[in-house]
Amino acid sequence: MRTALAERLGFDVPIFAFSHCRDVVVEVTKAGGFGVLGAATFGPEQLEVELKWIDEHVGGRPYGVDVIIPSKYDTKAEAETGKTDLHDLIPAEHKAFMEKLLAEAGIPELPEDERKHVYKEIMEGRGAMTPDGARRLVDTALRHEQVRLIVSALGAPPPDIVEQIRAKNVMIGALCGKPEHAVRQKAAGVELIVAQGTEAGGHTGEISTLVLVPQVIDAVENDIPVLAAGGISRGSQVAAALAMGAAGVWCGTIWLGTQESELNAFEKEAMFRARTEDAVRRRARTGKTVRMLKSRLSEAWEEPGAPPYLLPPLQGILYNEAHARAVKAERADYYSFPAGQCVGNMTSETTVKQVMYEMQEELLQSLERMGSILDA
Ligand SMILES: Cc1cc2nc3c(=O)[nH]c(=O)nc-3n(C[C@H](O)[C@H](O)[C@H](O)COP(=O)(O)O)c2cc1C
Repeated sequence: MRTALAERLGFDVPIFAFSHCRDVVVEVTKAGGFGVLGAATFGPEQLEVELKWIDEHVGGRPYGVDVIIPSKYDTKAEAETGKTDLHDLIPAEHKAFMEKLLAEAGIPELPEDERKHVYKEIMEGRGAMTPDGARRLVDTALRHEQVRLIVSALGAPPPDIVEQIRAKNVMIGALCGKPEHAVRQKAAGVELIVAQGTEAGGHTGEISTLVLVPQVIDAVENDIPVLAAGGISRGSQVAAALAMGAAGVWCGTIWLGTQESELNAFEKEAMFRARTEDAVRRRARTGKTVRMLKSRLSEAWEEPGAPPYLLPPLQGILYNEAHARAVKAERADYYSFPAGQCVGNMTSETTVKQVMYEMQEELLQSLERMGSILDA
């Protein structure tokens, strides 16, 4: 595919893969797509390790990095990051609620060494889910020449970050869930918009992809490229996205079921068993609405008597340790990981190569079908 965007970013197939897993990023990119590593679960040191590994394995191809820059967050937690144990800022009521929930379910605490490891990961990752945390990740990403795109989620990126990225001639993108977001992001200097419909896994709004994509293309007056995201896992949907005027698609959930994914066998099984309607929007994971698998862990926070949600990063710090305990105990009834509605299409393990091949094959069939409709 030869478009201005493909020329600038150096991909052959307009399939962008969002993943927290470096193997997925590498395999998608090597298959001609464009891999984007979600950095929000890493601290700067770990991100450096991941990016170095990608640089070494991606065969010289360009790839991207995604950071979360929430517009609403706990300012005290941001100021204290790296100085105080952020657990101390989580109210006792919230800790007690989570502890009671897990204790009543008989989900044990993690062994001490694992707890320390998870704790460190959470503090560096979820603990960094603030603008300052994102700045540290952007600094790290910009030290890698093959990083040609940096994408920001959860709001228009602050001007200093936009300036810093553009000064390096790296493309800057942003996710949006409403046309108004796209207008603000374009005004802030964003050069690529990911229009993400409610079907998506992860933080997501209320407008469906089919409605949102044309709205966003109109809102940015077709001046900057728009990728379609949310619910896309097959070639016919890629064809639909291109037909709407999108410059490509951006997928997240589909990679979770691949051999390369970061999920273990128990977690993948939970994904394969889930139906589309099991992927619900809840605030338990980060304090903002995330589409994720429904379980007791997501639902208990919705019930009367549950404490109010905390702002990022504190809700995420509390949630992630509980999630790690549910995974360790292999308790599917308490397992709520982000997943979009297309989780209902995933029934057994695939590989990135297979997904890429099947999507392109069905894309071509769909384009031919559309052509033959016109010829008829
Ligand atoms: C497990 C998971 C984690 C995600 N984490 C992030 C994130 O950290 N930053 C981000 O911009 N988007 C994140 N997303 C959303 C993706 O970038 C993407 O927009 C979404 O997955 C597309 O919809 P789909 O899940 O239906 O493919 C996540 C999605 C999933 C499934």
